[in-house]
Amino acid sequence: MEQAVEQNLAFGIDIGGSGIKGAVVNLDTGEFATERVRIPTPKKSTPKAVAQTCKELIYQFDLPADMPVGITFPAPVSHGVVLFMANLHKSWEGVNVTELMEAELGRKVYPVNDADAAGYAEVVFGAAKGVDGLVIVTTLGTGIGTAMIYNGQLQPNTELGHIEIDGYDAESRASSGVRTAEGLSFKKWAKRLTKYYSHLEMLFTPDLFVVGGGVSKKHDQFIPLIDIKTPMVPAKLFNTAGIVGAAALAKRYMTI
Ligand code: BGC
Repeated sequence: MEQAVEQNLAFGIDIGGSGIKGAVVNLDTGEFATERVRIPTPKKSTPKAVAQTCKELIYQFDLPADMPVGITFPAPVSHGVVLFMANLHKSWEGVNVTELMEAELGRKVYPVNDADAAGYAEVVFGAAKGVDGLVIVTTLGTGIGTAMIYNGQLQPNTELGHIEIDGYDAESRASSGVRTAEGLSFKKWAKRLTKYYSHLEMLFTPDLFVVGGGVSKKHDQFIPLIDIKTPMVPAKLFNTAGIVGAAALAKRYMTI
């Protein structure tokens, strides 16, 4: 008799500065099991408006009630609460996003920092898989997100994009968003990235840097120009990492 194959699935939502994206993830492969749906982030990106967009997104999928759902936030999240918010509406600060999203979506959710989700996805399926010692995964986007992984274990909420260098918040000089806004060439941007990664190198002595975020698709245009001693590789999951990591963490930590 043929046995039904039980699929190892979870849903991931990635809340970004310009788009809110979601898909069902196959956790055996780290690949999407459905199409990815993207809805633009509301212009006034308040908690309520973003929660309503997440609802609109998830309702496009006919998800079983017991499927774990993970949601990324571009902010540190501790015990379900957003601690501060650099790149969405300021009213997120202090909001319990577990309560907010569960009320709006009518189901349990697992909230996580976006870079931590991406870092976790790289550990399980990507460039940090099986790497011993300290890996720092950075996501270069509107801001700079970081995930620190020591011997495969994630240390959440590291926020190293906000390290101060020469009196500046690092992401205000070196994020991919700033590169676009200031019209910097990859060469000029790589100089700023060299300064940033050298600083992290000096403080943490990592064994590997993994560079993620949408721009990591163009890694051959800037990673070779970053002059540091630590090995540096592009992320393997490019822009799927947030969704995949959120889904994988939800599956690991949620009891539904
Ligand atoms: C936020 C981080 C986030 C990163 C990438 C930073 O401004 O403080 O929490 O991971 O942007 O979105």
